[in-house]
Amino acid sequence: MSEIKRAKITAVGHYLPEHRLTNKDLEELVETNDEWIVSRTGIKERRILKDQDKATCYMSTRAAEEALAQRGISAEEIDVIIVATVTPDYLFPATACLVQEKIGAKNAYGFDLSAACSGFLFALSTGSNFIASGNAEKVLVIGSDKMSSIVDYTDRSTCILFGDGAGAVLLEASDDETGIIDYINYTDGDTDNALFQHAGGSLNPATVETVKNKQHFVKQDGRTVFKKATVGMADVSVEIMEKNNLAPEDIAWLVPHQANKRIIDATANRAGLTGDQVMINIDKYGNTTSATIPLCLHDWKDKLKHGDNLILAAFGGGYTWGAIYLKWGIK
Ligand code: ACO
Repeated sequence: MSEIKRAKITAVGHYLPEHRLTNKDLEELVETNDEWIVSRTGIKERRILKDQDKATCYMSTRAAEEALAQRGISAEEIDVIIVATVTPDYLFPATACLVQEKIGAKNAYGFDLSAACSGFLFALSTGSNFIASGNAEKVLVIGSDKMSSIVDYTDRSTCILFGDGAGAVLLEASDDETGIIDYINYTDGDTDNALFQHAGGSLNPATVETVKNKQHFVKQDGRTVFKKATVGMADVSVEIMEKNNLAPEDIAWLVPHQANKRIIDATANRAGLTGDQVMINIDKYGNTTSATIPLCLHDWKDKLKHGDNLILAAFGGGYTWGAIYLKWGIK
């Protein structure tokens, strides 16, 4: 085993489909209205991948290609590809295998990671360990979800929330004090059955009944998840700040998973952060599950300064939740 290294993000790519699904559009589909959606969630519109022949692999590939071009390296230099997703193109082969072939990462192996809305955080902490151990020099971590493929557009309690998109970061060993400094991840099996896709797995394989009963769509008990998410995301953000002796004024940006603006505000308040320290783009993209955090990093990348302290935090189905403390390393 080689010496322990610190992983840092050296490039950020993204992909967002062009089609915008606005709150007004949703008013045509279900009994809802723009005022309700904006006041309860903060969402104004989301992006939807309309093309029937494109899915998570396509969005992941576009995001990965942007990251590689930004860093100016060839895909052949990549050692590992991790795709965080709950909407893989197929249950197998893994989307990471499809991406590996599409981008021409001939020397990489890859796998998918399933942790719902915490997927990108879990994948980033996993990827950072490959760098830290010295077992990989370049790791692509991708968060990508085509949520529109598992959303029931007759269910107003879920269809207003989700959108499609992808973000990708490149991880390499840091040569200075910047990079991923700490992470805390949690899992607590969802005995409430509050956030589920009931069918399509080995317990309830697809049948005429599962399709008829709409069991392949996301089902959520919003109130239960809201309470858990508010506590979980706030607690873990405060925990990682205290563990690393970080005061609110030490934080340049909180990069929260974008599920609901009220959950983000509660987290920021608990951590003692003000609005100008928080990345929020839920109004434009809704909840893109694994993609929300890298999409934030992409939207803010020109504002981020070398050495900025960032707290990344997420809560999602599983239940899964966690936080990462990193010092931004791109100059
Ligand atoms: N438009 C209008 N009214 C609606 C809508 C809608 N789209 N949806 C629900 N309502 C109604 C309900 O029927 C209910 O009416 P009632 O009081 O007559 O029964 C009322 O509005 C309030 O409903 P709630 O579900 O209590 O609304 P709430 O304020 O909790 O907001 C929401 C719902 C936005 C879903 C919220 O609970 C939430 O954000 N939950 C957490 C989501 C989350 O973080 N998920 C985890 C990540 S997702 C993942 O991991 C894949």
